[in-house]
Amino acid sequence: MFLRHGGQLLSVAKQYNIPAEQWLDLSTGIAPYHYPIPSIPSSVWAQLPQTHATLLASAEKYYKCPALLPVSGSQSVIQRLPQLYLYNNPWLAAQSERISVYLPVQGYKEHEKAWRKTGVNIIYYHDIPSMQQLNGQCVVVLINPNNPAGKLISKVQVLALLQAVKRRQGLLIVDEAFMDTVQTDQSVIADAQCENLIVLRSVGKFFGLAGLRLGFAAACDEWLAAIAADQGPWPVSGPAQYVGHKALSDSAWQQQQRLRLRSLSLRLSQLLKSVFNVQSKGTALFQTIRLANAENIYDKLCRQAVYVRLTDDEKALRFGIPAENNFSRLKKALQNI
Ligand SMILES: Cc1ncc(COP(=O)(O)O)c(C=O)c1O
Repeated sequence: MFLRHGGQLLSVAKQYNIPAEQWLDLSTGIAPYHYPIPSIPSSVWAQLPQTHATLLASAEKYYKCPALLPVSGSQSVIQRLPQLYLYNNPWLAAQSERISVYLPVQGYKEHEKAWRKTGVNIIYYHDIPSMQQLNGQCVVVLINPNNPAGKLISKVQVLALLQAVKRRQGLLIVDEAFMDTVQTDQSVIADAQCENLIVLRSVGKFFGLAGLRLGFAAACDEWLAAIAADQGPWPVSGPAQYVGHKALSDSAWQQQQRLRLRSLSLRLSQLLKSVFNVQSKGTALFQTIRLANAENIYDKLCRQAVYVRLTDDEKALRFGIPAENNFSRLKKALQNI
């Protein structure tokens, strides 16, 4: 399964024959302002990363959840979970085609890629699967809020879905990579202490630190032990732990970042509305707009060295949030198309 991702600036720059430094890259949902990198003691670089105690303490406070495992980006878990689910249980592995995995029609496709490799039966849903639709041996993957659609499923609805999954002894995986900027807390991370729920969080998006490769899995002890054993030793580097700890414990910076992202994303959605006369949908980390000629507009923006994300169905464009000083350039490029 071939997957297109944002953040492929070098190859897009080559394709359009414009030097990479000249581009405005809005192709990802990563915050345009990152947590300031503190100076990192040389011992942190020199030693093998040790226990996660300080990182865990700040993460537990930030996520309001006591059962967390630091991982090398949530992607590292997404790509391994299907194998872990099936091969920790030989009975399930022997009949993978009888397991139904419910995936959003639109959403981060790495989930689907990983599950497809295992021969399970894939069933697509819009927004949220209906309870009646769920089969006995079910795994439900929910991306909340959805990337790129921006749709948020309320906590009440997710918890009702969890009850339905529990009754079928299934597994609910909630990918909350874009949850950090949601206005009132809709995360189900604190409920992830039963064997039927795994919640994934990413430090890359909201903190603007995608290169750090840091994320968290929240689940019951058995699941966390299985993921930890699968990761092997030293999955999260010392510098990632050091910077992650500072970022997760700096609530003043987090508050400032939230306000700044909300105001910039509102400004972006107003700009898109003024140009296309269509309301965008999204989060404070990206805005997505459905357009009949999305592919053509993508191309016209690229010709002006503005790189956005053409969605997989090629019917929408997802715009990452521009930094304050990049709005005028984006506006000009949009007005030129
Ligand atoms: C919805 C979603 N989940 C998870 C990820 C993986 O992010 P990371 O591995 O940086 O935590 C991405 C990356 O774009 C994403 O869009």
